[in-house]
Amino acid sequence: MIDWTEDIESILISESEIKEIVKLVAKKIEDDYRNEEKIVLVGVLKGSAVFMTDLMRQLHIPVEIDFMRVSSYGDSSVSSGNVNIILDLNRRGLGSENIIIVEDMVDSGRTLKYLVSYLKNKGAKSVRTATLLDKPGRREVEFTPEYVGKQIENKFVIGYGLDYAEKYRTLPYIGIIKPEKI
Ligand code: IMP
Ligand code: MG
Repeated sequence: MIDWTEDIESILISESEIKEIVKLVAKKIEDDYRNEEKIVLVGVLKGSAVFMTDLMRQLHIPVEIDFMRVSSYGDSSVSSGNVNIILDLNRRGLGSENIIIVEDMVDSGRTLKYLVSYLKNKGAKSVRTATLLDKPGRREVEFTPEYVGKQIENKFVIGYGLDYAEKYRTLPYIGIIKPEKI
C-alpha cells in the first residue's frame, strides 16, 4: 500500500496549530467586514480548497463563496510572470461585491497581484487577499496580503491543500517532504 506519510521528513505546522491559525484569520476578517453587505470568498483552486472550507465555517458573518482557477506557470524559479485564468467567476459583472481572495500560499506574489487587479478592473467594490501561508522571502513582485495565517521560511511545503506534483494535498498538516522524494 502506498503511504504518503512515509515521504514526510517533518511536520512544520500541526493540525491543531492550523486550526488556531484559521480561527485567528476568521476573527480578523469578521471584525473588518462586519458592516459590509455583500462578501464573497473567492478560493483559488486547487491549493486553497482545504483552507477555504475550514475558513468559511469559522466565519460567523454571511459570506458567499466562489472559485477561480489559474494555470501554474511551471517551475516557479522561472519568472515568466504569466498568470492564465482557466476558471473565471460566473457572475454578471461585479459591483457590490467585497471580494476576499483565498489562497494557500503567497510565493512570488504574481498570482495574487494579478488576480487582485483583474477583479478590481471587473468593478468589485473591494478586493483583499487572505492566505494561509506566506513566504515573504520569495517575493518577485511587490505584494502584501491583508490576512496572513503564518509566515514561513523559503521551504517547499505540502499538505492541507498544498501539493507536490498533485500529491499530498489531502494530508491534514503542513509538512516538508524528504529530499529524495523531489
Ligand atoms: P505565486 O505567489 O504566484 O508565486 O504562487 C503561489 C502558488 O505557488 C501557490 O498558490 C501554490 O500553489 C504554489 N506554491 C508556492 N510555494 C509552494 C509550496 O511550498 N508548496 C506547494 N505549493 C507552493
Ligand atoms: Mg495555488
